[in-house]
Amino acid sequence: MTGKMLQIGLVGLGTVGTGVYETLCRNHDLLEARAQIPFEVRRVAVRRLDRPREVEIAPELLTDDWHDLVEDPNIDIIIELIGGTTEAYRLIKAALEAGKPVVTGNKAVLAEFGGELFRLSGEKGVPLYFEASCGGGIPIVQSLQNSLICNNVQSIVGIINGTSNYILTSMREKGTSLRDALESAQKLGFAEADPTFDINGWDAAHKALILAAVAYGIPLKPDKISVYGIDRVESVDQHFAGRLGYTIKLLMVIKHHTETDQLELRVQPSFVPLNHILSKVDGVFNAIAVKGDIVGETIFYGRGAGKNPTSSAVIGDLVLAMRERRHPDFHTGFRPYAKNLEVLPISETVTPYYVRFRVQDSPGVIAAIASVLARYEIGISRTSSTFSTTDGKGLTWCNLVFMVHECKWGRLKAALKEIGRVPNIDRHPVVFRIETFND
Ligand SMILES: NC(=O)c1ccc[n+]([C@@H]2O[C@H](COP(=O)([O-])OP(=O)(O)OC[C@H]3O[C@@H](n4cnc5c(N)ncnc54)[C@H](OP(=O)(O)O)[C@@H]3O)[C@@H](O)[C@H]2O)c1
Repeated sequence: MTGKMLQIGLVGLGTVGTGVYETLCRNHDLLEARAQIPFEVRRVAVRRLDRPREVEIAPELLTDDWHDLVEDPNIDIIIELIGGTTEAYRLIKAALEAGKPVVTGNKAVLAEFGGELFRLSGEKGVPLYFEASCGGGIPIVQSLQNSLICNNVQSIVGIINGTSNYILTSMREKGTSLRDALESAQKLGFAEADPTFDINGWDAAHKALILAAVAYGIPLKPDKISVYGIDRVESVDQHFAGRLGYTIKLLMVIKHHTETDQLELRVQPSFVPLNHILSKVDGVFNAIAVKGDIVGETIFYGRGAGKNPTSSAVIGDLVLAMRERRHPDFHTGFRPYAKNLEVLPISETVTPYYVRFRVQDSPGVIAAIASVLARYEIGISRTSSTFSTTDGKGLTWCNLVFMVHECKWGRLKAALKEIGRVPNIDRHPVVFRIETFND
């Protein structure tokens, strides 16, 4: 064992903070033996001191003011696990300014303030670690930074939001509605009380932005990513997907187009072929497929959230931070090392699509849709439909599905706008991309 006792300041003792504290106590000897650095948790900051805790902790360790930790000259490293953006930003900034390395699991604060925080981290030579911000227990950040360092990353495609994946899995397996699946996820503790970012795709988008920044060195710019959530997925789409040989997943897609040196950056529900490994990733599990020019295909699979898996990532970073304190210059963190890649405009991105129209069951509707698609040179690969149902006004409706060949999203969008003007067709079709995984 070498060096002086390392003192840790832990801010936040909620789901992840509790897991981190418990693991640091339970596996203390193992960690010291492996890291070869003695350590202890010196202080823990929380919001409410009177709140009952799941973990036994000496009252003198607790404070309700995180400044006590940042300003304590004996504390060497800060772990930020409070969530949110405003206060977390202030805390991380203050810690870096005080010369204390920070470990965080907070994707929201990095997506919003990462540019500034990483600049500060670079200027001060004080590292900021963030493995737990992407994919919970999956070691994707350190893998991109270290193990895969010799690769030009060609693509990163994955399922990185456990709540939405649980909901989509329930809808497919039990035929439940999105709302019922969400309620069940909340009862089982798989979804937060406010699941807005899980449903609207922004939780996955924050993680995608971080991974794109790690893999390509591009600045973190939330306005550059195209984001659609699972809110438009209905059981009928899951049903069609299954019938046509697919399942629906909320996918993050980051793809480098070498010919134009542009980056495709998007999050949306997508049709995944049943023979692709990502189609088998169900429930709260996450999986991230990374393709590099040297390594080829790799896949990282595991629990994308939860107390213990996330603690595993936080503590991995903590040990790295302890080791790198001696040589902060070796930190591979968030250094831009690529050219400043442009993001490909979403209207230029190309995939095949699933388009579901709700139409009044009347002669000529299919022909009308097909003729507009033909005029836009969009080929149809398959069609399918449901039986008609009659609404309260005596009108009969059915769902018509068109699977269309690869085309630019901008072109399909223009065609759909025109189709929306055809009588007897609902103006807002449901559109999902079909991922082919060919390149
Ligand atoms: N939960 C997961 O599975 C998961 C997975 C990956 C990443 N993360 C990230 O990890 C972070 C923590 O998540 P969590 O689920 O553990 O959150 P949580 O259960 O809501 O816990 C938040 C903790 O922070 C404390 N806190 C809040 N504001 C504070 C302040 N101003 N000063 C001091 N303490 C403060 C709270 O204190 P009180 O206890 O007194 O209220 C609580 O202990 C978030 O950034 C989240 O995105 C979570």
